[in-house]
Order: sequence, then C-alpha cells, then structure tokens
Amino acid sequence: MTRLLHISASPRGDASESIRIAEVFTSTFADTHPDAAVEHWDLWDGTLPDFAVGARAKMTVFSGATPLGAEAEAWAGARRVFERFAGAERLLFSVPMWNGNVPYVLKQFIDVVSQPGWVFGVDPVAGYSHLLAGRGTRVAVVYSSAVWGPGLGAEFGRDFQSTYFTDWLHWTGLTDTSEIRFHPTLSGDSDAARQAADAAARDLAKTF
Ligand SMILES: Cc1cc2nc3c(=O)[nH]c(=O)nc-3n(C[C@H](O)[C@H](O)[C@H](O)COP(=O)(O)O)c2cc1C
Repeated sequence: MTRLLHISASPRGDASESIRIAEVFTSTFADTHPDAAVEHWDLWDGTLPDFAVGARAKMTVFSGATPLGAEAEAWAGARRVFERFAGAERLLFSVPMWNGNVPYVLKQFIDVVSQPGWVFGVDPVAGYSHLLAGRGTRVAVVYSSAVWGPGLGAEFGRDFQSTYFTDWLHWTGLTDTSEIRFHPTLSGDSDAARQAADAAARDLAKTF
C-alpha cells in the first residue's frame, strides 16, 4: 500500500497557512488514491528527539566504532525517526519561512535523520553518495512566507528556505521534488494567492 507522510513544520495548528494548504493536498490525494494510507506528523508533537548525545554517537560511527550506552540509545532513537521518514513512498512537507530559513524544528529533523549509511555515504575522492536515490520516492513541499516573495528586492528578505531545503532533499537522493508556494507578501492579494496555492495543491495531489 502506498503511504503518504505529511511532515509539518509550523506550530500554529489551525491558524497555519502551510498546514491548511497541505491538507487540501492530502484530502485530494486521499480522494484520488483510495488505496493509499495518509499520515500526518507534526514535528512539534514532542516525538522528535534532541540530538545532543546523538551528535556524539554520530562521530563514534564516523570513526568506525559502535555507539554504546547512552549513545546507543540516542542512535536507536534517531534510527526510528529515519525509518518513519524513509519508509514513506510519498512525502509532503509543509514549511513556513522563519527568518529567511526553515523553522528550527525542521533543521532538528534534518540533523537527526542525516546519518552516514542511512542518508549519505562519503568518499575522500568521490565525495558524497546519496543513499535515498533510486527508490521512486516523490516529494512535494508547501512553502509559505508573509513578507518575502519571488520578484521582490532584498529589502524584503532573501529565500534561504526553499534553497536550503531543496538542496538537502537532493543531497539525500530525493530528486523528484515539486513545490507549492504561498507568498502573499505585504502588498499582494492574499485571497488570490490562497486560491492559487489551493489549486496547485489539488492539481499536484491528483497525479502524485
Ligand atoms: C518566527 C517567525 C519568523 C518569520 N520569519 C519570516 C521571514 O523571515 N520572512 C517572511 O516572509 N515571513 C516570515 N514569517 C511569516 C511566516 O513565514 C508566514 O506567516 C507563514 O505563512 C507562516 O506559516 P504558517 O501559517 O504555516 O505558520 C515568520 C513567522 C514567524 C512565526
């Protein structure tokens, strides 16, 4: 059974624009893919482990040793997060812009799952290899912001949100990526932007 996992990075619940657009996507997906399973993972729900001890475990693994004790526990916790993420054939991320970039909880998720042997390999001559490539996983991302928008000057900020996140997805090997954007800006027509984002979400979900 195909599994669509929606991973949301806004803590704003019912007030969230990015989650609302993602839910237009998931409800259209459910209607048009009746055999698929749809799951929502709110990254703010307390299940994402911190990575203080995990960082030590990562360097232990990097040096070729096996994490023990607290490090082993942290490593196993990170592995559970990785499996939840990497086990889905279809991924939908909803991502607000926070201070030009992604919310820190999404960076925490990235730091937890991006491990050697799981997401990447590295070779002194060839550099990185991308271990999630070739699995047929498709990824859709809803990006939202309120001030920055495509075409505006740098006085309205700059986009390190989609540039950073797309680069991370591609680095893992997840290169089949699509975007749905909601950037009403301070002077734009937010109702029209909302309708356009909803229409884009519905269109993509039908064939996802
Ligand atoms: C902590 C925080 C930082 C933000 N930083 C920016 C920013 O740098 N640029 C911008 O255009 N909007 C910024 N915003 C506005 C949000 O990106 C915008 O309201 C977005 O739609 C929020 O998504 P959500 O409704 O799904 O929570 C920020 C909002 C918050 C809460």
